[in-house]
Amino acid sequence: MKFVSYLAILALLAVYACKPASTPTAANGNDPAIEARIDSFLSVMTLEEKLGQLTQFTSDWGETGPFMRPNFKEDIVAGRTGSLLNAYSAAYTRELQHLAVDSTRLHIPLILGYDVIHGFRTITPIPLGESASWDLTAIEKSARVAADEASASGVHWTFAPMVDIARDPRWGRMAEGAGEDTYLGVAIALARVHGFQGDDLSATNTILACTKHFAAYGVAQAGRDYNTVDISERTLRDVYLPPFQATVDAGVATFMSSFNEINGVPATGNREYLTDILRGKWGFEGFVVSDYGSIAEMVTHGFAADTLNSAELALNAGLDMDMMSGAFNKWIPQLVKEGKVKEADIDEAVRRILRMKFKLGLFDDPYRYCDTLREKNTLLNEANKEAARDMARKSMVLLKNEGNVLPLSKTLRSIAVVGPLADSKVDMLGNWSAAGHADECVTLLEGIKAAVPAAKINYAEGCKIENAETNGIAAAVAAARQSEVVVVAVGERGYMSGEAASRSTLDLPGGQRKLLEALKQTGKPIVLVLMNGRPLTLVWETENFPSLLETWFSGTMGGHAIADVLFGDYNPSGKLPVTFPRSVGQVPLFYNYKNTGRPKNNTKYTTQYLDESNDPLFPFGFGLSYTTFGYSNLSVSKSSMGMTDSLEVTVTVTNTGSRMGEEVVQLYIRDLVGSVTRPVKELKGFRKIALDAGANQQVTFKVKSSDLAFSRLDMQFLPEPGGFEVYVADLKGTFSIK
Ligand code: NOJ
Repeated sequence: MKFVSYLAILALLAVYACKPASTPTAANGNDPAIEARIDSFLSVMTLEEKLGQLTQFTSDWGETGPFMRPNFKEDIVAGRTGSLLNAYSAAYTRELQHLAVDSTRLHIPLILGYDVIHGFRTITPIPLGESASWDLTAIEKSARVAADEASASGVHWTFAPMVDIARDPRWGRMAEGAGEDTYLGVAIALARVHGFQGDDLSATNTILACTKHFAAYGVAQAGRDYNTVDISERTLRDVYLPPFQATVDAGVATFMSSFNEINGVPATGNREYLTDILRGKWGFEGFVVSDYGSIAEMVTHGFAADTLNSAELALNAGLDMDMMSGAFNKWIPQLVKEGKVKEADIDEAVRRILRMKFKLGLFDDPYRYCDTLREKNTLLNEANKEAARDMARKSMVLLKNEGNVLPLSKTLRSIAVVGPLADSKVDMLGNWSAAGHADECVTLLEGIKAAVPAAKINYAEGCKIENAETNGIAAAVAAARQSEVVVVAVGERGYMSGEAASRSTLDLPGGQRKLLEALKQTGKPIVLVLMNGRPLTLVWETENFPSLLETWFSGTMGGHAIADVLFGDYNPSGKLPVTFPRSVGQVPLFYNYKNTGRPKNNTKYTTQYLDESNDPLFPFGFGLSYTTFGYSNLSVSKSSMGMTDSLEVTVTVTNTGSRMGEEVVQLYIRDLVGSVTRPVKELKGFRKIALDAGANQQVTFKVKSSDLAFSRLDMQFLPEPGGFEVYVADLKGTFSIK
């Protein structure tokens, strides 16, 4: 006994005798010095201490429920948890870190995770909105600012990016992703991961990213959150998995398993996905956290008999950290005794988690992210607010602008600003608001007042969103009648998208349609400012109003950013990252569909509805500008290329209007014949360029054969020889792979 504890002390000394580890730049790529220190820890840790490292509980959270942990501080002191979620602020995280470091035998610091989804204190547009910018530099910068603020507030790890491709706008979490397209989704996922993690995880202003939700969470049947997923392996591989794999290649530190099942097996207990694909095929070296309570939920799925069984299934599947189920702590000692879980697998999971704590520099100084002065100087500082404003205006999509109602003149003497979202601070935040404060948000009303201080602004709420009450309409109509122009803000409440926020209709909820009908009667020029977390069905609105601007939920600086666009200080450049359907019955409706054997034509027995067009209201990639662009001279550098070759597609883009503007030049291809059917078109390149009035630019895209790969009939992910069409705007070229 004595001998054992002597060995333990020696090993402990070894743990602390090491010099601070030099941290490699990427999340993967192991540092031998760190590995040696982890070995030392593992050699002295009890099973309970190890399981503590594999466990995450929530900090104070104003909710109650089956997974809440009122005594989470006791859990820290007892070593039952090595990680918390929902804890932030430099002072508070210092206090928690002290509990872990001072009270536990091995003094292992906590890793603190939080949902920093679109900004921390300075809230930026919802991810779907940011994605509409197609501006990777701005998106990366937005994540960078979020990481800077979060890390200054003691947070080490964000549960973002959500890289779930989403084709069904009923699913509210579409708001948190990059939309419907895989190519765009990959590019944005990489920008976000790099924005959060930077080049050096040990820097105090970077945080770990978490790619979620692995996998296929966005394929919930009927768009109902948490619902069953049933999808072909080919579509899963070709459409949904690439953003996940791309973030592994980019060195993402962590992954989160999803709530749903994949082919009948819940993701949290899915060894094929968590081990064979993620680690085996893709080489992921970080750790995987479950989603909230999803280990225990495998019982409810009918996949595990009880939580004992679900702990076994999750750990053996390759899941490292138990978020909120408490199942690892409780049951793994018994499972080890019974020989159902191997201690070597537990050690491996502990290793993966400790490795990240080392990379963050927490063993060198557990309090390095708890600097109150830095926190004070970082959160919501002017530079961050300016970045948020820039991101917000870049995210806006001009959907219609008949008669050039927009931009509005700054010499207008009176403007009616009406609608239930015109002055709602809390809705500017969207659904995930991290440490954002509603009272710090600039509303549309405030933004307009600041932009045109001399104009008389007539404000009226008009109606409600949650209910059909319309008492306020008369006041809104009066405001409109007294004004030269009407700006009306309509859409959804911030919480109507995001988690557990599915909808069965996509119309404007509440009394908003009635408000719009009444405003239309005034005959005034009316601009619709849309605030929503998903595509809405706006056929009537589009037919009846000259101007529509999609602003999503645009964050802390949203009101200023919208005003920048409305008054032409910024020329809108956003393009839809997702299709806007005409009616909910068309859903799922996305641009890269298959042609079928009976594409719609004027005869009956073709794929179509009796009562609705097949076309979207606004297609993927669509967005107007205050200027216009012309495309000419598409050329393809060669008529054919080999299987490992590449070619170039060049096009000339001209600003044909009268003011400077930005254009997202989009390249699509169609693989004409395949061993399995191919979509009618697929995005394979884009470039955002700025052009002065009258100026033109040649844009060249490199297309590699490997960019045209898909899961062929033999399930190999490779291109196939044959003919292709390539499209940029309405221009077309051809080439083949030989
Ligand atoms: C559940 C959500 O699905 C996930 O995205 C989030 O990160 C966790 N809750 C933690 O809040």
